Amino acid sequence: MLKNDLYLKALAGDPVPRPPVWMMRQAGRYLPSYLRLQEKYDFFTRCETPELVAEITCLPIDEIGPDAAILFSDILVVPRALGQPVEMKSGVGPVLDNPIRTPQQAMAMRPVDASQALGYVMDGIRATSERLDNRVPLIGFSGAPWTLLCYMVEGRGSKDFSTAKAFCYQHPEAAKHVLKLLTDVIIDYLNAQIEAGVHAVQVFDSWAGLLGPEDFSSFCLPYLQRITEEVRGAPVVLFAKGAWYALELLSWRTRAAALSLDWTVTPEYARQAAGLDITLQGNFDPSKLLAPVGAIRQQVRQMIDRFGKDRYIVNLGHGILPNVPVAHARAFVDEVRGWSK
Ligand code: CP3
Repeated sequence: MLKNDLYLKALAGDPVPRPPVWMMRQAGRYLPSYLRLQEKYDFFTRCETPELVAEITCLPIDEIGPDAAILFSDILVVPRALGQPVEMKSGVGPVLDNPIRTPQQAMAMRPVDASQALGYVMDGIRATSERLDNRVPLIGFSGAPWTLLCYMVEGRGSKDFSTAKAFCYQHPEAAKHVLKLLTDVIIDYLNAQIEAGVHAVQVFDSWAGLLGPEDFSSFCLPYLQRITEEVRGAPVVLFAKGAWYALELLSWRTRAAALSLDWTVTPEYARQAAGLDITLQGNFDPSKLLAPVGAIRQQVRQMIDRFGKDRYIVNLGHGILPNVPVAHARAFVDEVRGWSK
């Protein structure tokens, strides 16, 4: 039995004494204890070694105290499993080999058995569950098809992913072949994570906001719909960053248990667009964790007052920044833990 099930209660829409809190990228580079492991092991060694996955996933639980743990891994393990080597270059970010640049390359792609090809993630989940010892729920995750396609075509991070977008506009059939293949793999991958022991899964569509509403409906929505319909046994949270215009569609046309919000929407707008039957998560501007601690605490309280305590999970609007002082991250979480009406 979980000792702290606030996060799962909020996802189920059950009343809670206070909202749960966790931070996207909470197991990352702002933590000195993480940086020490970063010096010792390269990025994918950290992802592939179950003991390191368990240790890193638990660092913020031990040091900061959020109400949920997110598995230490990366969205780019999926392109790697599909045969595109990825290098994490310091100061540059991810660089992928053999970017998909022709329809022939796209059509030649074949799916893999995710539970096998990504078996090391499932081993990491089992090791992490043991180490967590039911203190808090464990969140599994995947990149969304669109966001993975962005990296697989562009070959690296980008402000506008214009190569990836051009590929979709020039070769929509080939792009949709890849999106469908990714969707199949992601569904198997998330179901395998759930079988291995995660309590909920989050789908990161970090680059959804690069698309306008019509293109979102053709390159993102149908695939996110299928994921929420075919992932079984645990709630699915969708994070379509930047796609504020799609909140209504995501709420009504998918089976997501929750929508994660970036900081460009007000709580009132998000609630009105998404309706009352879905949980909302977010949406503190990650840069505001650089404000003085007193201001952080005050704005967290205001944020909870505006979202309301139920059907709400306190989080950032995107990943925590590497230059955030640990004390500020702690104040953010602490303020929520001490919240009472
Ligand atoms: O703490 C957690 O949230 C769990 C682990 C996690 C990582 N990446 C570890 C990581 C999660 C959930 C991710 C998701 C991820 N990865 C996304 C979606 C969320 C988002 O931020 O939009 C994306 C787009 C990626 C791809 C990726 N991985 C990039 C662009 C980079 C380089 C830039 C950066 O943020 O550092 C990574 C590397 C990465 N993934 C790091 C970590 C802790 C930092 C590199 C390192 O530790 O050596």
